[in-house]
Amino acid sequence: MKEQLANIKREALAAFEAVDAPAALDELRVKYLGKKGQLTAVLKQMGRLSAEERPAMGALANDVRTALENAIEAAAQKLEAAALEARLKAEALDVTVPGKTVRRGHKHPMYRALDEIKDIFVGMGFTVLDGPEIELAELNFDRLNAEEGHPSRDWSDSFYFDQDARVMLRSQTSPMQVRAMDTMPLPIRIIAPGRVYRKDEIDATHSPMFHQVEGMVIDKNVTMADLKGTLNLLAEELFGKGTVTRFRPHHFPFTEPSCEMDVQCHKCGGAGCPTCKGEGWIELLGAGMIHPNVLRMAHIDPEEWSGWAFGMGLERTAMRRFKIADLRLIFENDARFLEQF
Ligand code: DAH
Repeated sequence: MKEQLANIKREALAAFEAVDAPAALDELRVKYLGKKGQLTAVLKQMGRLSAEERPAMGALANDVRTALENAIEAAAQKLEAAALEARLKAEALDVTVPGKTVRRGHKHPMYRALDEIKDIFVGMGFTVLDGPEIELAELNFDRLNAEEGHPSRDWSDSFYFDQDARVMLRSQTSPMQVRAMDTMPLPIRIIAPGRVYRKDEIDATHSPMFHQVEGMVIDKNVTMADLKGTLNLLAEELFGKGTVTRFRPHHFPFTEPSCEMDVQCHKCGGAGCPTCKGEGWIELLGAGMIHPNVLRMAHIDPEEWSGWAFGMGLERTAMRRFKIADLRLIFENDARFLEQF
């Protein structure tokens, strides 16, 4: 038995010394000190020893157990230190490696165009309003004098949330006119930029989501001359001094009279080219004098107050401003395209 104990000790200490992974060390612990381990097996034989032999052998067995336990502890510490060392090596930081340069972005061309538009109007005393994209059809249509049956109310044109077509994704920023009239004291001068949604297929000039900028003025003695003067100034500020505009009669339910404003094509100067589809003019916005019904529905007396309003497509304006040929480029976020502005 003495010899058995000595063998176990020698073998175990050598094994602990050589071990190179925590899992292997654990296996060894079980092999020698576990319930079914070798040392335990020897201790179980103690009963067979004579009363004189037992104390000495017991002491020896305890010494072996202590030696093994100490060796395990030492091996564990060695493994831990080695693991730390390896980690430090793996995670070593070479401070001489050049850093990754952070590529600094810049404003998207469409938002640059919007900033310019905002500046122009804020300079004239307008307030910039923000409004909900999920809107009541009542504000998007009824309060704007577009009654049941108006073509733009059709389910094939607008996105509705409910069967009764009461809540929708706004199809225009014009409901912001109503929100302004309902909440702001007169006189009112506002612009309201934001997203609008229509059931259009995507192509070079259409997208089911696009941006508009709405504008509205309500004051005393406001006339069509104010509308033309202000929008001509907008065109000159955006596209340069001397930009030629024209106003064509049009129809919108919420204005009377209504018009569309075109700017002379920047590419051909009005002669006709592919950019203006041979027309010499490019449509910029819709506008008009606010319909008396719209004022009345907002409890504003059309005998006392008058106003004008406009709505312009922001993508289109940015395309014209930065000479971008395809609307899709604005939304694709291709850095190679965006870097050019
Ligand atoms: N809401 C119109 C559209 O989406 C644009 C518009 C036209 C807005 C005339 C106006 C306006 O405020 O007076 O086509």
